Amino acid sequence: MNDSFLEALRKIVGIEHVLDSHRVSERATHFWDARPLVAHVLVRPANTSETAEVLKLCHANNQLVVTHGGVTGLVDGNLTTDQDLILSLERQKQIETVDPVGRTMTVGAGAILQDVQQAATDIGLQLGLDLGARGSCTIGGNVSTNAGGLSVLRYGMAREQVLGLEAVLADGTIVSSMNSMMKNNAGYDLKQLFIGSEGTLGIITRVVLRLRAATPVVQTALVACRQFDDVVAILGHLDKSLNGTLDAFEVIWQPFYKLNTDPTRSDTVSAPLSPEYPLYAIVEAKSAADTQNQSDTTFTSALEHLLEKDVIVDAVIAQSKTEAANIWYIREHIDIALEHHPLFVYDISLPIASMEQYVKQLQHDVELYWHNCKLFVYGHLADGNLHIMVAPPELTEHKMSADANNTDQNTSESVSRHKHWREQSNTYVYSPLQALGGSVSAEHGIGLQKKQYLALSRSPVEINLMRTLKQTLDPKNLLNRGKIIDINPPSSSN
Ligand code: LAC
Ligand code: ZN
Repeated sequence: MNDSFLEALRKIVGIEHVLDSHRVSERATHFWDARPLVAHVLVRPANTSETAEVLKLCHANNQLVVTHGGVTGLVDGNLTTDQDLILSLERQKQIETVDPVGRTMTVGAGAILQDVQQAATDIGLQLGLDLGARGSCTIGGNVSTNAGGLSVLRYGMAREQVLGLEAVLADGTIVSSMNSMMKNNAGYDLKQLFIGSEGTLGIITRVVLRLRAATPVVQTALVACRQFDDVVAILGHLDKSLNGTLDAFEVIWQPFYKLNTDPTRSDTVSAPLSPEYPLYAIVEAKSAADTQNQSDTTFTSALEHLLEKDVIVDAVIAQSKTEAANIWYIREHIDIALEHHPLFVYDISLPIASMEQYVKQLQHDVELYWHNCKLFVYGHLADGNLHIMVAPPELTEHKMSADANNTDQNTSESVSRHKHWREQSNTYVYSPLQALGGSVSAEHGIGLQKKQYLALSRSPVEINLMRTLKQTLDPKNLLNRGKIIDINPPSSSN
């Protein structure tokens, strides 16, 4: 990259918003990874028109571009090399307008999810999107990856919260599609090209969000069951008896429950229910403020009914925000799981009817291959979405011996064994999904990590159409190159 290119960038965004590779390295790679960030340069445009100018310049100079929002993604969709220009949207975090009558909000793509949620709450409404990374992730990232999260069963994924958006194409063309209507069937719905395409087709800079009625009355319960069929029965019953207020239905298989309620550790919570049951579910209902007593009664009676029918073996209803937070901690706390090395983490979809058999088969397969392999399973069951963590045991010892001796040979052996094990684990997790009509990515996207498995969930015709779209919108293949699909694949893949 030559000096005149950097100089041109500085002219567009101002000297202090062009960070050279040295200053880039003072930042962390990722939300989970404190290693120094790598890139040739990082640019922080203030608005859509500066973003467009930057992209026009990149296009003229064949400069690769990777867009960064909150960098909390889980599939290496925002990974960079020293050849990349990082286009950071961190300055575009304004809440532009909030419309309580039309129930919409217009925000910059760099706005933090939690700030957007708060702005909606401030006018008595809410955003139908919530996920664990809310304090760091951005709306632009949520929309460009079509994030899911905790209330998808009620409000849908990020896509369902978007009425309009503004995006900049690879050549700097601004596509302003800031629709704020619920209904607008005037031709193609172009915003959908940019939602969920992980920054490969354009860069989202502004978003018009749909807001919903606030639901400040929250009831949270943890229930335990003896078998998977009971989980399905609970979901069915709550769905029909809670007057549409069921907001979250998260299922936790016993090993993950035990991990976060382990009484021998200080960073756990004490188990609200005995850890001896095979399955647990966190159920949460949310409703409007004027329905407190009625909602409490409805929620309690629905659970009592399930206890009477013996579908639930035991249950606890949170009596305070602290108790509710303790229940959620069991589901959301992943630090203890992350202490396992290696740990292979997954986000998959499959029909609820196939889940029990799928998990049993997976337990069988990993145990046969590794012995004493830990398998943590939990997820947004109502959405057909499981998160899975495979933690084989032996590499821990191997890694320790490699670290102790610290020889190059040990390290490279360890790296290649890790890679081999990851592939083995991927095979066990992904290969049954195609026949089940499931997906290798439920809500985290494809990025780099799942690229080689895309064909298990999308047909050759679908993948070719993705390629056609990419080539049409970004003919030089500059935006997030190599993520989701390769443009010039080896002739064997089509
Ligand atoms: C979750 C994120 C990882 O559900 O998708 O915890
Ligand atoms: Zn999730």
